[in-house]
Amino acid sequence: MIPYRTEYLSADPAGLEQAADYLRQGLLVAFPTETVYGLGGDARNGEAVAAIYAAKGRPSFNPLIAHVSSVEAAQRYVKWSDEAERLAEQFWPGPLTLVLPLKAGGGVSSLVTAGLDTLAVRVPAHPTARALLKTLDAPVAAPSANPSGRISPTTAAHVLAGLDGRITAVLDDGPCGVGLESTIIGLAGTPTLLRPGGVALEGIESALGNRLHLREPGEPLTAPGQLLSHYAPDASVRLNAESQQGGEVLLGFGEVVCDMNLSPDGNLNEAAANLFACLHELDKSRRPIAVSPIPEIGLGKAINDRLRRAAAPRS
Ligand code: TXA
Ligand code: MG
Repeated sequence: MIPYRTEYLSADPAGLEQAADYLRQGLLVAFPTETVYGLGGDARNGEAVAAIYAAKGRPSFNPLIAHVSSVEAAQRYVKWSDEAERLAEQFWPGPLTLVLPLKAGGGVSSLVTAGLDTLAVRVPAHPTARALLKTLDAPVAAPSANPSGRISPTTAAHVLAGLDGRITAVLDDGPCGVGLESTIIGLAGTPTLLRPGGVALEGIESALGNRLHLREPGEPLTAPGQLLSHYAPDASVRLNAESQQGGEVLLGFGEVVCDMNLSPDGNLNEAAANLFACLHELDKSRRPIAVSPIPEIGLGKAINDRLRRAAAPRS
């Protein structure tokens, strides 16, 4: 048994109460959401938020998502709009983050927004995340619970592999169902896709009754998480591989002979849920990783986005 220095909590009433208590004290607790595990700290407590950046080794210009328990709670911190209402009605609770103008006097630490005048808010669907937010009755700032620039965690074991000893506790409730981070939509101006994710673009456009603005090449980065090299395993990554070349391990999709398969049936939801766990696992082999082509439809867009970042030259 490895002697973990980060406390391991089960997702039962006692574990939830302990997690909420640590958060109230300004300490850091990783917790499950339906997308990936988040590294939580009280969003109103500047020291707790600073500790999140420190634990992840995250550049301080990269703002965080505030997780809240309901639309009403979100409205305490951001200026609401018709578009926000339409999207929240259809996709909250769920894997969707909305970036809205910050409301003055809401009490969220300016470290959460990294000084921007907008705030990213999300109501997660995971029952344990919801129970935690409800018990705490405070906004929780939570980036994915991985060291900055590395693969996101979809199990408590992934969290401990990256952050053991750097955070107070991890609340374990098994693997995440969606497996990809939330879709982020900017609503402070023209509705804009800031990051593809767990809700497919097509659904968002149909809820808005409008096409989303997509960032043009060369347009400034409005979600700093769009930095190219991100989600990086130690090994190099080669995309759209029809077969493996010398020394590579192959991460397959659909009917292929491979080392691990994202979804033998070619199901994109299943592939999204397996993506980060497969990358964590294959990375242990210390061999270069080749990945089968993934169709650019539905959640395939978000999967390809994460894979392109994993394959990008490292900065
Ligand atoms: O599914 C998720 O979104 C997970 C779970 C834990 O909720 N969280 C997550 O957080 O992926 P993180 O910190 O790894 O990614 C948040 C992204 C970053 O790319 C950040 O730049 C962007 O959200 N972001 C946060 N606040 C923003 C803002 N005010 N304007 C634009 N982008 C923002
Ligand atoms: Mg992240």
